[in-house]
Formats: sequence, C-alpha cells, structure tokens
Amino acid sequence: MKNILFVASESVPFIKTGGLADVVGSLPKCVDRKYFDVRVMIPKYTCIPRELADKMVFKTSFYMDFHWRNEYVGILEAKVDGVTYYFIDNESKFGGPKPYSGNVYDDIEKFAFFSKAALSAMPLLDFRPDVIHCHDWQTGLVPVYLRERFQGNDFFHGIKSVMTIHNLKFQGKWDVDSVKDITGLPDYYFTSDKLEAYKNANLLKGGLVFADAITTVSETYAKEIMTPFFGEGLDGLLRARQNDLRGIVNGIDYTDYDPGKDEYIDYKYTPQNFRKEKIKNKRNLQKELGLTENDKTMMIGIVSRLTDQKGFDLIAYMMDELCQDDVQIVVLGTGEEQYENMFRHFDWKYSNKVAANIYYSEEMSHKIYASCDAFLMPSLFEPCGLSQLMALRYGTLPIVRETGGLKDTVDPYNEYDSTGTGFSFANYNAHEMLAAVRYAEKIYYDRKREWNKMIDRAMAADFSWDVSAVKYQEMYDWLIG
Ligand code: ADP
Ligand code: GLC
Repeated sequence: MKNILFVASESVPFIKTGGLADVVGSLPKCVDRKYFDVRVMIPKYTCIPRELADKMVFKTSFYMDFHWRNEYVGILEAKVDGVTYYFIDNESKFGGPKPYSGNVYDDIEKFAFFSKAALSAMPLLDFRPDVIHCHDWQTGLVPVYLRERFQGNDFFHGIKSVMTIHNLKFQGKWDVDSVKDITGLPDYYFTSDKLEAYKNANLLKGGLVFADAITTVSETYAKEIMTPFFGEGLDGLLRARQNDLRGIVNGIDYTDYDPGKDEYIDYKYTPQNFRKEKIKNKRNLQKELGLTENDKTMMIGIVSRLTDQKGFDLIAYMMDELCQDDVQIVVLGTGEEQYENMFRHFDWKYSNKVAANIYYSEEMSHKIYASCDAFLMPSLFEPCGLSQLMALRYGTLPIVRETGGLKDTVDPYNEYDSTGTGFSFANYNAHEMLAAVRYAEKIYYDRKREWNKMIDRAMAADFSWDVSAVKYQEMYDWLIG
C-alpha cells in the first residue's frame, strides 16, 4: 500500500470557496484504494459548519515554535466516504468567518503556520506518507520545510512532495524580511533561485522549486503557464522545470453531481428522459426567480466567483446588447463589488430577463446547472474550471473561451459533421463572445434536434475522475519508484 497525504487549505464537504475544495474532496475517493491510501489534511477553521465539526475526533496535541511564540497545535480526525481527514487546530490562527482573510500578511502567517504544523503533526499520526501532495500557494512552504528541517529526521527520510497549481495568479508574496521572520527559514532560502522573486518572498515559488514533481489541472494550462502572459512571473522557473511538470485535467464527483439522483433539484433526469424532464426544472426556476415563465426562452446560467479571471468584463460590456435577444440570464456568485453591482443593475433594468443571485448556495448552483439551457464561462484564463464540467453533466451546453481547461474539456460544435458539446471563441473580445452566444441561440431556436443531440453528447462525455485519477497514480508510482 502506498500512502499519499494531501495537504490543502480547503476540501469538500468541510469548507469550500472554489474548485480547489471540490478537487481535494473528490480525487482521494477515486484513486485505486487497493494500492493507494490517500488521506487529506486541512485546517480546522472555526467557520466549518457545526454538524461537520461534530464528526471530528480529537487525536492529540503538542506545542510548536512558530513566529517567536510557542503555539498550540491540535490534531483531529474524521472519516467521510471512506476517506480519512486530519485537521490542524489552533483557534487564534483559523478563526474568523472565512478561510482567507484577504489580508495577505495575515494569510501568509496563517498558512506558514499550517504548513509547519502539518509536517510536525505527521509523526504523530499512524500514517507515514510516501508522498505529500500540496495544493496551491497556501501549502507552498511544505516542500520547503520538508527539505530544510524535516528531512534530516528518520521519519521523513525519503518522503517525496508534489506541488499542484490550481491557480498561478495567487502566490503568497510579501516582503522578504517579514517572511523570514514568520517562517524562521535562514537567509540562504531567500535568493532568486529559491523563495525570492522580484524582491519579494514567494511561498508558491518555494513549493515549485523544492517539490519533486509539479502538476497543474489541465494540459493546456500546463503549456500556457510556461509563457509570460499566463506565467505570472514564474514562467521562467516553470520552463526550467518542464520535465517535472504535468497537466492532468480535473474530474468532478459523479455521485454529487448526478442529474438522475440530485436531491437539490425538483425533477431528476437522465440521458434517456432529459427531453421531457429537464425543462420542468427550468419552469420552476423561472417561477422561483420571478422571470418570465416561458418554456421556449433560452436560459443562460453563470455560477462563479465574481472576479476578472472569469471574463466578467466581457459580459459587462455586452449585457445591454445581449438583453435585446430572447434570452434569460441567471447568475449565482459573489466576489468583487463592481461585478456584484453590475449584475444587480441589470437585474433591476431587465427584471423579467436577468436574475442576479449574489450569494453562495450549493443548492441554487445545482438548480442552475440543471435548469439552464446554456452555461456561460468566457474566462480570461482558466486553469481547469469545474463549472463547465458540471454543466456538461447536466446537459447544459457550455459557451466558453478557448483557454486552459475550458479548451481541453469543451468540444466546440461543428455543424458540418454534427459533433461537439458546446460553443467556444478564441480571443478575449466581447464581440467574439457575443457572436458565440448568438450562434448558440441560433442553434437552440432554429435547430432544436441538433441542440438535443449536443445534449446527448454532453451528457455522455466522461469527466468523472476515472481517467485522471490513473494519471495521478502513475505519477505517485514514478515518484516512489
Ligand atoms: P474556481 O475554482 O476558479 O472558482 P471552478 O469552476 O474550478 O472555479 O470551481 C468553482 C466551484 O465553485 C464550482 O463547484 C461551482 O459550482 C462553485 N461555486 C462558485 N460560486 C458559487 C456560488 N456562489 N454558490 C455555489 N457554488 C459556487
Ligand atoms: C482554481 C482554478 C480553476 C480550477 C480549480 C480546481 O480555482 O481557478 O480553474 O478548476 O482551481 O483545480
């Protein structure tokens, strides 16, 4: 049996702000359990809902030197769907209403603590990982600390590390002196071939330099991040490490996202009966959101963090024009105020066509995936994207920009050979986006049989973890040797 420990800042079902949590929570279940025991370690945030916190059992605790103090570290454990989770507890570090405070210094301090505590806790678990699999900048210090102070110890000797990039935009950067002070790492680590980048200390860079292997969440994004536009200043390092870098496309949990069994939706449906059943969900959602009740009107969904990454500048620019068409637009998201207000404005201006739901709700997200006809995701960049995979699974055809994982997972409609599972456009340009939406409208209104055949293909596409989990297994085998 090979032991793998995921170390991450979020995981479903305990805590989620985006796709990272979906991946960390679903991949361990899909790795072949005959050969691999994959466990997960995350912080015990005080904002984890009570009923989930109640599942955790206290294991042990100790004190650890960190940032000039002696800090408490509690370890708790829980088992969900056969996967063992460990939690690192310290209420002063993981308090607050959200996992990330948004204050970079505080977050760096918090996750430096988490990274060091995670390693310090490992010898106290009855589980010695062969591979520590780290996710995003919050755990970038794990491979660094592993090399710097833990690998000398017998327990850690030979343990390998992997760094997975879910989003290169976020790196955990702050001035060198503060980070030196927080982490206690010696000067030697703060040079441009290690943690330093453009005069700052950079936690993700540390992880990318010291991890034994690097992955990211789609093949296209793996190529993109080696170029200056997508590289966020680290493209040189990624080119230098390209032999250790692989792109493995994400999957989604086919049990949680299953239109045939989904408890959140009013009318369940399958590839066999979606033609009759799916539309009933649309009818209900129109009623619930106060939109014009009309089966025929094309409904376009958006479920997203409202940030510039997701292409909302294009949408803002085209909303007025798009609202002249016979469409309805249903948005669910939270994030930057300018985008929240933009959608509120159009909801007010076109109240029977636009529904802006500016909040977070798992239930509403499932209703939107199930009820809409199309799903819009015109991202500026997209490491993988899970929403379009969820949309495909629910037979809601994605309209996407050809970047990162969107390019790898949505097959654009080709009317000549009748292939494809969605619609796409190449350039980050509002007119191109509108043209793609209008092309989709045309097929939806004028060629319904073609549209339904696309739904057949979309629902048949397999983005479960089956294929990608095997690629992670191959990497673990290769690392462990
Ligand atoms: P990212 O991780 O960049 O936010 P992904 O497409 O990989 O993008 O994953 C987003 C995940 O978060 C999906 O599971 C999506 O359904 C969910 N999500 C985003 N915003 C909301 C919201 N307001 N309410 C519920 N779920 C949301
Ligand atoms: C990040 C990316 C998203 C990806 C997710 C899970 O949040 O923005 O594209 O799907 O991580 O890997």
